[in-house]
Amino acid sequence: MTKDLAETNLFKPITIGKDIKLSHRIVHAPTSRSRSTNDGENSPTDLMIQYYDSRSRTEGSLLVFESCLVSPRSGLVPFKSGVFTSAQCEALRKITDKIHENNSYVSCQIFSPGRVANIQILKDKQLPYVAPSVIYHAEGHKVTAEELNYPLKELTIEEIHQIQDDFVTAAINCLTIGGFDLVELHGTSGFLIEQFLSPISNTRTDQYGGSVENRCRFLIEIIDKFIEHPQIGASKFGVRIAAWSTHFGMNYPEDKYPLDASFPPLLFCQYILKYLEKLKQQGKEIAYVSITEPRVSGSFDQDPDGKSNSSLTEIWSGKLIRAGGYATNYKGDPSLIKSNNSNLKIGDGEVQHYAALTKDVDADDRTLIAFSRPFTSNPDLIKRLKENLKLDLYERPFFYSHQLEGYLTFGDYVDENLFSNTLKFPIDELKREGKSLLNSQVN
Ligand SMILES: Cc1cc2nc3c(=O)[nH]c(=O)nc-3n(C[C@H](O)[C@H](O)[C@H](O)COP(=O)(O)O)c2cc1C
Repeated sequence: MTKDLAETNLFKPITIGKDIKLSHRIVHAPTSRSRSTNDGENSPTDLMIQYYDSRSRTEGSLLVFESCLVSPRSGLVPFKSGVFTSAQCEALRKITDKIHENNSYVSCQIFSPGRVANIQILKDKQLPYVAPSVIYHAEGHKVTAEELNYPLKELTIEEIHQIQDDFVTAAINCLTIGGFDLVELHGTSGFLIEQFLSPISNTRTDQYGGSVENRCRFLIEIIDKFIEHPQIGASKFGVRIAAWSTHFGMNYPEDKYPLDASFPPLLFCQYILKYLEKLKQQGKEIAYVSITEPRVSGSFDQDPDGKSNSSLTEIWSGKLIRAGGYATNYKGDPSLIKSNNSNLKIGDGEVQHYAALTKDVDADDRTLIAFSRPFTSNPDLIKRLKENLKLDLYERPFFYSHQLEGYLTFGDYVDENLFSNTLKFPIDELKREGKSLLNSQVN
């Protein structure tokens, strides 16, 4: 039988950082929806105010804001917000203010695309196209770089240090101008930090490549800078890592990298967690560690067989956010969702929903559970989990479709037998992209 989630730790309060008092342990996972501008400004839009408003309505919630770009010189992509100018952060403040009006909290995930940046944009702006090593993540990117005569370049030590400082500046911008309560270092999904961590993308022979220790240096030095900076400090940031993401070219061929204790992502995750645990013992505990489960890679389900996070969770004793395939109780046939195969226990012909969630959140008193896809189609996800209401299934074609449709069209719970929860908009409105929130562009 499905245990009532309202009786689990999920609905007990918890404090993260110094003074972020959450009323429950459900986190909105970072979920990039490509609703920022494509005008070269990397600005958030009006659509996003409404989106984050509707998902922060339960007082005392924590949302992790979608990944934001730290600097032009570490790579740009369109439709994502940046946090490298005051104007961008003032625009983002319109969203964080809304979240705070709802008495909830928000952490800004910050990242650099590195080798997965948009090469055309970099060429147009005459910005460097750089990565730890000259290894393209996909054939298509290599072809584009060749056609544009704009090849990937290996970062110099000086450039590495500049980008680390860009992370520091970005974090300060988020906390001081953007109104964010926390920042999160994005160490997965094949972006720059993971490009350093992984031997797939890092073949350097200097102090930033080779051994696990050297490959972790880029991230660890940023962590140290954050901790030492008077405007940041340990309690103001979290770190997201994952051992099972194959996103953006992070594929480990099985013949070279068997799935055992020597699996490189397990080793670099363990190394980072040991470091963070050591800092915690020294009184420098970061706000949280966020990890993703082997049931998912990026935003896709995958087979978790033979994969486990237990060698990671046992190292870190601080606040832990776990994400990946934790929602199961969708309307219709839940077994259609791939991650549910390992997630639903069927005993005496009965489906037990949320078995993994209940087990993990009740295993200790420091675990929070993050949701991404379920929040896209259930703005009132927290209420639905608390009251064991069925969830509306997410619609992948709208994940990155830039428009209002599929972004603001999901409403709160309605009885599935009677109504649809789809909100109605005029066709022009459905197809419209957001208006920039940059001051000069707001009417
Ligand atoms: C549309 C979409 C965008 C995402 N964007 C990000 C992102 O910006 N940063 C990140 O770390 N993870 C991102 N993720 C991954 C989620 O945070 C989460 O780890 C993953 O979807 C598994 O959780 P779920 O099963 O609840 O969806 C994204 C996922 C989706 C579906």
